[in-house]
Amino acid sequence: MTTSPAEEAAALRDQLSRWSVAYFELDAPIVPDADYDASMRRLEALEAEHPALQTPDSPTRRVGSAPLSSFDSVDHRLPMLSLDNAFSAEELKDFHRRATERLGLTEMSYCCEPKLDGVAVSIVYEQGKMTLAATRGDGTSGENVTANVRTIKNVPLTLVGDAIPSYLEVRGEVVIPREAFERMNARATAVGEKVFVNPRNAAAGSLRQLDSSITSKRPLAFTAYSVGVVEGELPPFHDATLQRLGEWGLPISKYMETVTGIAACETYYEAIAAKREALPFDIDGIVFKVNGIAEQEKLGFVSRAPRWAIARKFPAQEVSTRLLGVDFQVGRTGAITPVARLDPVFVGGVTVSNATLHNADEIERLGVQIGDTIIVRRAGDVIPQIVSVVESGRANSVTERKVIQFPAHCPDCGSDVFREEGEAVVRCVGGMACAAQLKAVIRHFASRKALDIEGLGDKLIDQLVDDGLVTTVADLFRLGKEQLASLERMGERSSENLLTSLANSQVTTLPRFIYALGIREVGEATARALAQHFLTLEDLLAAPADVLEGVDDVGPVVARHIRAFACDERNRQVLSDLMAAGVNWPAVSVADGDGPLAGTVWVVTGKLETTGRDDAEQRLRALGAKTASSVSSKTSTVLAGPGAGSKRKKAEGLGVSIIDEAEWLAMLEELE
Ligand code: IVH
Repeated sequence: MTTSPAEEAAALRDQLSRWSVAYFELDAPIVPDADYDASMRRLEALEAEHPALQTPDSPTRRVGSAPLSSFDSVDHRLPMLSLDNAFSAEELKDFHRRATERLGLTEMSYCCEPKLDGVAVSIVYEQGKMTLAATRGDGTSGENVTANVRTIKNVPLTLVGDAIPSYLEVRGEVVIPREAFERMNARATAVGEKVFVNPRNAAAGSLRQLDSSITSKRPLAFTAYSVGVVEGELPPFHDATLQRLGEWGLPISKYMETVTGIAACETYYEAIAAKREALPFDIDGIVFKVNGIAEQEKLGFVSRAPRWAIARKFPAQEVSTRLLGVDFQVGRTGAITPVARLDPVFVGGVTVSNATLHNADEIERLGVQIGDTIIVRRAGDVIPQIVSVVESGRANSVTERKVIQFPAHCPDCGSDVFREEGEAVVRCVGGMACAAQLKAVIRHFASRKALDIEGLGDKLIDQLVDDGLVTTVADLFRLGKEQLASLERMGERSSENLLTSLANSQVTTLPRFIYALGIREVGEATARALAQHFLTLEDLLAAPADVLEGVDDVGPVVARHIRAFACDERNRQVLSDLMAAGVNWPAVSVADGDGPLAGTVWVVTGKLETTGRDDAEQRLRALGAKTASSVSSKTSTVLAGPGAGSKRKKAEGLGVSIIDEAEWLAMLEELE
């Protein structure tokens, strides 16, 4: 059965209205913004193609829904409109072409601003005093939230400076910065209060509190991005207008920039997109506004949006899809992790078909079942996560829903599973007798930051374990050429190569070796700290818990894991087998905190000409520096070679100093 355009339009209108009630009125969105945008665009296209289908109450002609009755209603003297979206560079160019053609211009200047993901508000100043604040509501009338907006710390109650218009309506966005949001949710969890899904919902919920004393405790922040009704003089350019607002004490975006031409707009978009994760607040795109007010006036408006501005949206970080099933993966410590199998979707710039479900508690918290429509989030390089279940998806698939059953036995070896007191994780008790655990142990042992055994990939590890050739990591060094050549898809050449790289990896460093052992909670940094503290493996393994706890980063839990590892007879055997097989490392000599770079934290990124990244890190550490894999506010310096991407951008965003290889070599020359 096919649907007619009329039926499709009616269905879309109904859907969009319900979604927008949930979003604007209940502060509880039930679909990701990307789905909302897609449906809105589909309806716009249908109405454009079949003008007879247009209705006066179509959501394409409105923004959001009517305000709640519990706040007084405020009529906006000028409607608070929305923005059209551009989802690609092409669509942005089209916008530019339309605007320049209409004005008969060949070039145009645009003011570029991040599109803040919060709540739009209008604030009125009369004779420089704040008299009214309202939400956007349906664009025509909103809610009187004056009492609440008064509590926002960075909203001036009185403007300062000269030539302030007698009546000035400032428009902008109220947000909650990400860090403050995390703290707010952590506190809410601690006292058993409701946590918010994301900073925008938290901002909306806080702004629409009937009790403004609650609002006053929420970390809301305002940024002005335009003006409404003005009685008085303002400059003839958008950027200069915002600057004036800034001079009068209103907060404006420090990322705002005016550029000429569409290529420069695209460059600005790329630069902010690269910084997105490092910004202190959520943004969902860039707004480009024609900078000249005279040009803006000539261009005017269409239905619900100005012709002089456009929002170029970032790829959505949250989209909806279906949970097709759940696999259970066994890690090297026996931890059994549920992994969601998803109907593949494009999110955060890549196609995602798996997401972690963490553990049984998380499944319970989400209330998710197989067959549900869920929201999946992928931001930056973070592993995709399931954020929530879409209620409507759940209702539609009642008959197909299936409860997620956590396995009672290890899905790989069939051993019993257990859950430690106070731990969320379920583990297989099989140890090295569990092939899945053994394979994961070997993968970790051979990985780049551990013994870095080139050519020992996942497939080969599976074969070696399944064929019984390897039962401990020490067995790797006892493999012979014939044994390897007997494996499927292993020629003589590959066997020889693997034997060579095994031989190369035998000479390693103590930090790498400690890390390679895969002791629970002992990551790269802890392994390094342990090596620098104890200097020998023997001293590390002999150290009692209280001595271990004296090392940087080592608390009672890590100390307990190290002790458990050291006391296990089987581990002792594997260690002596590894030594007997010739695994060795040069003596560690630099004690913690020594050297001219002591106290500094470095991140090495990009490709270096004269040396590998690992070696560069080693040289820095030999001078007393700490090295880290990700950039944070603790980073002192980033050594960036060509091709450095997100880490460099993040460092720029945080104002961390960045040097290139030549500068670095010159520095070593002096220090080494
Ligand atoms: S200008 C007539 N600038 O995006 C143009 N809007 O979908 C008015 N927004 O309702 C909007 N950051 O809540 C503008 N720098 C910015 C913005 C911004 C976020 C929001 C605003 C608006 C919505 C439009």
